Amino acid sequence: MPVLHNFDEIIDRRGTGSLKWHYSDDTIPLWVADMDFKAAKPILNTIERVVQHGVLGYTKPTEALYQAIVDWHSSRYGLLLAKSNILFSPGVVPSLALMMNVFTEIGDAVLINDPIYTPFMAKVEQNDRKLVTSALKEVEGQYHLDLDDIEAKIVEHNVKLYLLCNPHNPGGRVWTRDELEALLLICKKHDVAIVSDEIHQDLTLNGHTFIPFLTLAEGYEHKVVSLTSMTKTFNIAGIKGSMIFAKDEALLKQISQQQNLNDEYELNLFAYTVMQSAYEEGEEWLEQALAYIEKNIELTLDFLAGHLPDIKVMRPEASYLIWLDCSAYGQDDQMLYDKLRDAKVELNAGIKYGDEGYLKMRLNVACPEALLREGLNRIYTAFSDVVKDS
Ligand SMILES: Cc1ncc(COP(=O)(O)O)c(C=O)c1O
Repeated sequence: MPVLHNFDEIIDRRGTGSLKWHYSDDTIPLWVADMDFKAAKPILNTIERVVQHGVLGYTKPTEALYQAIVDWHSSRYGLLLAKSNILFSPGVVPSLALMMNVFTEIGDAVLINDPIYTPFMAKVEQNDRKLVTSALKEVEGQYHLDLDDIEAKIVEHNVKLYLLCNPHNPGGRVWTRDELEALLLICKKHDVAIVSDEIHQDLTLNGHTFIPFLTLAEGYEHKVVSLTSMTKTFNIAGIKGSMIFAKDEALLKQISQQQNLNDEYELNLFAYTVMQSAYEEGEEWLEQALAYIEKNIELTLDFLAGHLPDIKVMRPEASYLIWLDCSAYGQDDQMLYDKLRDAKVELNAGIKYGDEGYLKMRLNVACPEALLREGLNRIYTAFSDVVKDS
């Protein structure tokens, strides 16, 4: 019998240091990629077990943890990993930064898409690399890689590294095998390394298939790295912890050397134990969470079509983030954000994801349905002056 999780439960997170619930008033936060759901019972039990044991000393990854990671990725995605292919890292974003030193020198060009999860841009620039962007093309309401533009930019700027986001944040695309193979071909032709941020992999929605980049990389494994984590999948971002996957021995050695410079290869006791429990026992919770998220996405798309039809909505293929083109409801980004803020609902301003995010907003629907409904009503209120005028 499956244990049914109550995703309808509204949990007050204010006053807990929650990043998402940072306003002390009754603003509904529908922004940062964090779900308002309790973690899976087996994960909470694991934490309790560790606390009951009571000794919180230095900890290393166990054989059982490696096996849990290997099993999860082979059974779900056909990604065959050996223990030696797996490194640990405090987070995917720290790993993105680390990859600058693995694959590039100061001043080298790094290519990313626009729009993109904000730290992609920040880490390139903060590490004194040259940021080169290729805008995603919108075709029939979905983003696509502009392969011609990507190749032209690689040649023009002598790009050394391409940072891919698969599934894509904020657009929610799960890149297809054809798209990824075409991208790989271009990168191979111009000797460009690929780092694929796959943190949203397990949140792929019905009808879509996530392809780990490493499954395509045979013959080019010395230039391909995947970054992923259990934190997004199981909503345990506060625990912190992630993995780096690579298949080439020399490349793995190089990554380890970079990690050693700052002793950044270890996780804490809770991260290791929770990671194992999540991969061994978390699937039932994940399936229920995804079903709930799918329902919330449908509810949101129906609401927006009925109440704010001039918002152009990008239906996500993965994750719980919906990319909204709000250009009909405001002339500048700050104005859009402020209107929503005045109506006591918070979304991410699209402009933070690059120039392509101009007049767009990112909406997080991973919360109890009642909270989402109230948040949507507030979005309607925020834009109602424009609705009435039109
Ligand atoms: C694409 C992407 N990469 C990385 C992260 C964060 O990873 P971490 O918390 O492991 O640094 C997020 C969080 O939303 C994300 O969306």
